[in-house]
Amino acid sequence: MTYKASRIARVHARQILDSRGRPTVEAEVELVDGSFGRSCVPSGASTGRHEAIELRDHNTSQYDGLGVGQAVNNVRSEIADRLLGEDALDQRQIDRLLISLDGSANLSRLGANAVLATSMAVCRAAAVHSHNPLYRYINSLCRGRPMSLPLPMVNILSGGAHAGRGMDLQDFLAIPVGASSYSEALEMISRVRVSATRLLADRGYSVLLADEGGLSPGFKHAHEALDLMVQSFEAAGLVPGQDMAIAIDVAASELFVNGRYELVRHGFQFSGEEMASFITECVRRYPIISVEDALEQDDWLNWQTFTASVPGVQVIGDDLFVTNQKRITMGIECSAANGVLIKVNQNGTLSGTLDAMETAWRAGYTTVVSARSGETEDTFIADLAVGTGAGQIKIGSVRSSERLAKYNQLLRIEEDQSLEFIGAAGLGRNTRQNVACN
Ligand code: PGA
Ligand code: ZN
Repeated sequence: MTYKASRIARVHARQILDSRGRPTVEAEVELVDGSFGRSCVPSGASTGRHEAIELRDHNTSQYDGLGVGQAVNNVRSEIADRLLGEDALDQRQIDRLLISLDGSANLSRLGANAVLATSMAVCRAAAVHSHNPLYRYINSLCRGRPMSLPLPMVNILSGGAHAGRGMDLQDFLAIPVGASSYSEALEMISRVRVSATRLLADRGYSVLLADEGGLSPGFKHAHEALDLMVQSFEAAGLVPGQDMAIAIDVAASELFVNGRYELVRHGFQFSGEEMASFITECVRRYPIISVEDALEQDDWLNWQTFTASVPGVQVIGDDLFVTNQKRITMGIECSAANGVLIKVNQNGTLSGTLDAMETAWRAGYTTVVSARSGETEDTFIADLAVGTGAGQIKIGSVRSSERLAKYNQLLRIEEDQSLEFIGAAGLGRNTRQNVACN
């Protein structure tokens, strides 16, 4: 083997804990010239059936069976053996090697957590080697795609699996559509988060934090949560629909039991058609400009109907697409949605994630780079959103360091004067008109 400074000289991993105190994988990669990269993988709670598989030990005497010792060992042994001497600057080749070494269709043998941690750590080490900030290095992997600072969609109220199922719908989020810079967007969001806390505290609701740092008042009906969103915007001195709009993540796969949508808190049991029209009605009444997972992950037909019934609204597939190029292509062919949530650990490699994004863009679909409900201090996705010019980012609320680490990384990146804040243009052609409440 010829000497090359960008070749991989060391691969290491360890078990660390995520924001829910659950074990996760942290990997480290060092190159011949000493360039170093470290990365940690996140983990979901409302996990899609078609996601790449994270490997857990299932040894109930440790961490409730959630240990990742086997995944860590896989990085230290098989993965390290395979990658030593490979060129970190060839991310595609690294990811191909990881996928073929795993050999399964969903990375279940080595674990998507083992594979992704390595894939991202290689990318970081390569960025260091090439003397580039991570977002610029990621951009060099994106075939001419322009970089931009993303429009954030930010969790204010939480339900579902992130908040003890206190509300049926999982996330009520705010999108600062009127912001003209990223830092202004963050300040506007912060104001809304403070107003929401005050309004709830004044009415005697708990203001304790849910898994993503959102508030969880446990409202029975979605309209109560949506009313509170609008009131929080107004109390923050913002015009609903103009300065600040609403996004919801229904996480409907979590509600789907024996072929019906069970909205326990509402007391509803819906068919797919009824579920679609319930959400459509919410969109009509409130300044909602983005809806994620309104329907279950394999309910393609009702996805199509729903998307057609809310023109101009961003319809995002999370569990539906699982950042998987094949499923995104299926969705594009049947017009199931018009946006894709991008979660690196649903896919399992960086290159696979970039391919998924490119497939979405080619069809005019928007992309929202997203954190998971179980996060770490790793800020990789902030750089990913900028480097890919994804358009939007979803990190959770503006509380808790695992979220703020990423919001703060975007503040650092914002100092690069050559970058534009994409603002509402990040919503692509999903520009809902006339979003005032009625
Ligand atoms: P998860 O939730 O990380 O628990 O899957 C995030 C989401 O549904 O968008
Ligand atoms: Zn989701």
